[in-house]
Amino acid sequence: MEARLCLIFFLLPILSFLSLSDAHDLQIVNAERRIDLTSHIVKVFLTFKVENTGTSPASEFLLAFPPAQADHLALVKAAVATGKKKKKTYIPLDVNPTELPDAPNGAKFASISLKNPLNAGETATFEVLLELTHSLEPFPAEISQSESQLVYYHDSAIILSPYFIKQQTTFIKTPSTRVESFSRVDPTNRVGTELKYGPYADRAPYSFSPIIIHFENNNPFAVVEELVREIEVSHWGSLQITEHYKLAHAGARHKGVFSRVEYQSRPTISGISSFKHLLALLPPRVHSVYYRDEIGNISSSHLRSDSRKSELEIEPRYPLFGGWKATFVIGYGLPLQDFLFESPDGRRYVNFSFGCPLLETVVDKLTIKVVLPEGSQDPSAEVPFPVEQHLETSYSYLDVVGRTVVVLEKTNVVPEQNTPFQVYYTFKPFFMLAEPLMLASAFFLFFVACVAYLHMDFSISKS
Ligand SMILES: *[C@@H]1O[C@H](CO)[C@@H](O)[C@H](O)[C@H]1NC(C)=O
Ligand SMILES: *[C@@H]1O[C@H](CO)[C@@H](O)[C@H](O)[C@H]1NC(C)=O
Repeated sequence: MEARLCLIFFLLPILSFLSLSDAHDLQIVNAERRIDLTSHIVKVFLTFKVENTGTSPASEFLLAFPPAQADHLALVKAAVATGKKKKKTYIPLDVNPTELPDAPNGAKFASISLKNPLNAGETATFEVLLELTHSLEPFPAEISQSESQLVYYHDSAIILSPYFIKQQTTFIKTPSTRVESFSRVDPTNRVGTELKYGPYADRAPYSFSPIIIHFENNNPFAVVEELVREIEVSHWGSLQITEHYKLAHAGARHKGVFSRVEYQSRPTISGISSFKHLLALLPPRVHSVYYRDEIGNISSSHLRSDSRKSELEIEPRYPLFGGWKATFVIGYGLPLQDFLFESPDGRRYVNFSFGCPLLETVVDKLTIKVVLPEGSQDPSAEVPFPVEQHLETSYSYLDVVGRTVVVLEKTNVVPEQNTPFQVYYTFKPFFMLAEPLMLASAFFLFFVACVAYLHMDFSISKS
């Protein structure tokens, strides 16, 4: 007993030392960061060559974010590179938000779990992709129809990290060569549409050096403030999708009057930051497509379909300028056999894509409602990232017990998240007969009533 206690007291400090040592025994030998500012979704590609300079294996690698950036972070993906130069392959790794007790200036963290711990003295190369939304601030905040849109981007010239970084360089790509101003943290260079910060050598953990870049960005700032996608499963052969959009232009607000004449006669200058149409990527074999708003059908949409995908080009009734909004509905049908499958354990599942079909669009609040056939039981959803889930019941024609609706909600959704998700459920085939049986019995009763009526004699006098 005593020996055991002794062992525990002896081991405890070592264990806590091990977990603490993780963060400080790693060092970044070389870091390269490429920030893509060409659309309104900021994409950051990071490559870290990491060395374990400690004595124990490391099982996680930490990413740090300034608090303002953490609020707009829509996606973090990480992978580890294996193999030599030509035959490099990338193995995806799990990333989870985490907290550190001694985080300076409210820095936020994400932890990358390493499948194979990094042994003392070894190096590994990690690739990280970050996507940030609402991170370009229009300045001036209001522009007229003939002006170009300018925006600010804030970041740090030095990569924020809990590790010592021996060598690092940052490249920033702007959409055009028009860059009004940029901070200098020497060495800083600008060539064409690329800004280069660094190389910087030997930066201590949590080094930070704020920079501001003021540049032109006339890409469509298409933001769906709210999107409700309803996916109705009918075992009679179809999947019916209805999507309710509240679309906004989140760029610099439009000021002054809108001149359609000028807009149409000088399309390359006038309203250059506005957008007229959007492209929706729909699954192949889509049918009965419609596109309407509160006034009615909008005919100005074009559907191109081939065996791999369908492209729907939609054109709202008016071009969208900064601060303008459009509300509309897109609906379509799909063959059920492309999306409904049976899993090995006998349950059925719907396999559909999460996210918004509009290209290069951010969704602030996305709600997906999967309406299962009447009589479905034990629904469960599998989504590759955390979402809010709950169940509802809806009623449609001829429903008796109602249909189970699996509701999934997520905020801050980017196109990268248009990945497949599944909703599993069990179903007794008997329920498929419920509605026809109900109809048949209704007709039967009606005929019985008719026959009875015809055989009755309502005359007063006997003929
Ligand atoms: C709207 O379009 C759909 C599909 O093209 C059509 O079925 C429907 O009748 C149209 N409605 C009106 C009011 O034109
Ligand atoms: C869901 O569909 C995608 C293709 O659309 C496919 O790659 C994936 O394997 C499917 N998932 C399941 C669980 O069937």
